[in-house]
Amino acid sequence: MDLSEQVSESFVELFGGKPSVIARAPGRVNLIGEHTDYNDGFVLPMAIDRAIWIAARPRADGLVHVHSIDFDSHDTFSLEDLKRGHGWSEYLKGVAYVLKLDGHRLSGWEGVMLGDVPRGSGLSSSAALELASARIFASISGLEWNAAYMARVGQRAENEWVGVNCGIMDQMASAACRQGHALFLDCRSLEMEHVPLPGHVAVVVMDTSTRRGLVDSAYNERRSQCEQAARFFGVKALRDVSWAEFEKRKSGLDEVVMRRARHIITENQRVLDAVQAMRSNDLAGLGNLLKAGHVSLRDDLEVTNEALNQIVEAAQMQSSCYGARMTGGGFGGCAVALVAAGQIQTFTDEVQKAYRQSSGLEPQIYVCKADAGANVVYNSDNMGSYRRITVQP
Ligand code: GLA
Repeated sequence: MDLSEQVSESFVELFGGKPSVIARAPGRVNLIGEHTDYNDGFVLPMAIDRAIWIAARPRADGLVHVHSIDFDSHDTFSLEDLKRGHGWSEYLKGVAYVLKLDGHRLSGWEGVMLGDVPRGSGLSSSAALELASARIFASISGLEWNAAYMARVGQRAENEWVGVNCGIMDQMASAACRQGHALFLDCRSLEMEHVPLPGHVAVVVMDTSTRRGLVDSAYNERRSQCEQAARFFGVKALRDVSWAEFEKRKSGLDEVVMRRARHIITENQRVLDAVQAMRSNDLAGLGNLLKAGHVSLRDDLEVTNEALNQIVEAAQMQSSCYGARMTGGGFGGCAVALVAAGQIQTFTDEVQKAYRQSSGLEPQIYVCKADAGANVVYNSDNMGSYRRITVQP
């Protein structure tokens, strides 16, 4: 039984009747372009074939009542009187809060949710939850779906309600990706291009099993160091500093801030180069960019931990690996590797063995397909039966 059927069946059991809408929104893995989003730069994430699913039906009393199968708990809140609390439902409240701030009239609903995006590992399960609930709110309240707008709603929910100061990448990936493609995104203009993934290569996500939350001050500290560097160069964001300008004036910067800025400036260029490499099917070139990205994240931005360095090294020791790097916010969580498609099993076995040996930890390995962004999967028609609808974001 797939997750769509599971949420649907649980809905029937819990609420005694069919859901009127089922939506899903995926997690993401970032191929390259790390910590560039809040510098108005470029990113290249892809949505993964792991998602959060919600089955729902409208309620007339303005309440939202949701049961989470994963957490085996439920929560009810009033759209009229949103109150801060703790736990998974804060993401739903945050989405409702921002939509209301923007003047949308929301209807209540009851629903069941379930997902297979690993939580807290840097694969954006929270963005997936925000976008899945945005899909449900939009569908139930009759709001128009605009992927970029809804991604902003998700990001603002995170910034203004949950209190995490993230950029726009995760929500854009969950909202706007296309199957088989990575999303080349300009985080300033939100202009995007869907770049096909090269054939004969697998995207392998390697979870170190180490964790560090984004709420941590280290992420915010990197942000303010980047802002400090932008002020030094007299620009809005580091996106506006060329390599030549950086080289000319870098000696005026504090040494640590200089390295933070160097990461951002070189990483933006690596994203542009990676898009070129993908377009020309240059897997070796693409792999080298990932490798260089990891070194820069390790030495200049300093957002890796020992486990991430060990798992990336274990991956890069394999002849089937074109390149690997940490992915996401860092300080724990996952790395990503590009691996020759025919050799996934050997790669996985060898990396597990090497990583266990060097770190003493048990990694989780996920071979991921590039999936589509958030969509409504089923909607009931007037007859109460289901029709499958394919709404591309
Ligand atoms: C987290 C944030 C993103 C982005 C990445 C680093 O995933 O949510 O906005 O800043 O870290 O690239």
